[in-house]
Amino acid sequence: AATIGLMGAMDEEIALLLEQVEGQNTVIHAGIGFVTGQLHGKEVVVCKSGVGKVNAAATTQVLVDRFGADTILFTGVAGAVHPELNIGDIVISSSCQQHDMDVTPLGFARGIIPYQDVSDFPADKKLIRLAEEACSKLCEDNNFIVGKVLSGDQFISDYDYVRELHETMDGACVEMEGAAVAQVCHMNGVPYVILRSMSDKADGTADVNFAEFTVLAARHSFEILNEMVAGL
Ligand code: ADE
Repeated sequence: AATIGLMGAMDEEIALLLEQVEGQNTVIHAGIGFVTGQLHGKEVVVCKSGVGKVNAAATTQVLVDRFGADTILFTGVAGAVHPELNIGDIVISSSCQQHDMDVTPLGFARGIIPYQDVSDFPADKKLIRLAEEACSKLCEDNNFIVGKVLSGDQFISDYDYVRELHETMDGACVEMEGAAVAQVCHMNGVPYVILRSMSDKADGTADVNFAEFTVLAARHSFEILNEMVAGL
């Protein structure tokens, strides 16, 4: 039977999901709690990966190997990179790339993983469509865009840096897990999409805004994800 892996990085990002999942049972692998159960009658596994690409990669592989996840959806918050995005707005990943993969001294462009075909990992088209439909239905006061999610093991809080991420890498938002999830999904042939609601603008006020708006943004992202699972 189909199993949907539902991931977040932080407690705030999975809290509302855990309130909705029925018949919960928790199993621990690699120190991560995986909560199996049903959401809208579908088999799901909910987990909190922890922050950063290594946590996200290991957690994604466990979802695939041990829980047979054949679809992975990630819900959470991000810093806005596209200049038209405001706090609360949604980014649906068209693809994900690591902005901190930097082998430029050897002549590789920023974000390119050397000696490998793909560095910008495309999200699943059907899942993107489903996310767009959920946003069209639920996003009243917030905008949503389909765009590139940039990931790195850095919290970005610098206006010039965030402009550069937009101009040189065409990023829509920046966070710390999506590209790791995307890469592991690509390696395993598992469809994925990342949903992110903006908690801040990755500029000089990002730390303050992140603290203030993470709960609100996490709720927006959860609402879209919940609608998507109902439609899967
Ligand atoms: N997640 C939320 N805001 C972020 C930021 N500014 N940088 C990296 N990850 C984030």
